[in-house]
Amino acid sequence: MSRVKVHFLAEDLLVEAPIGTPLADIATAAGADLTFGCRSGSCGTCRVRLAGEPGACSPPTAEERDYLAGLQAPPEERLACQVRVLGDLTVDALGV
Ligand code: FES
Repeated sequence: MSRVKVHFLAEDLLVEAPIGTPLADIATAAGADLTFGCRSGSCGTCRVRLAGEPGACSPPTAEERDYLAGLQAPPEERLACQVRVLGDLTVDALGV
């Protein structure tokens, strides 16, 4: 199975995981300093800024799109609880 590399900027933590793994699972397993609340795309606690090649993460879910549209967030901002990692990514935690 192909693997991806995820770099958590705040901790300068670089981890590998199977492609398609939820970002929340990667963060939790790695001990990254990302906080989760609802895990359903409605509270914004897990807001992050992602950097990577196009297609490096799953497209936004409807719940995520609605939440981020309300904030007028730029496209690189995502809700970590809604993201599956499909390519190498850098993660910068923003919170609420
Ligand atoms: S944990 Fe609430 S939006 Fe992700």
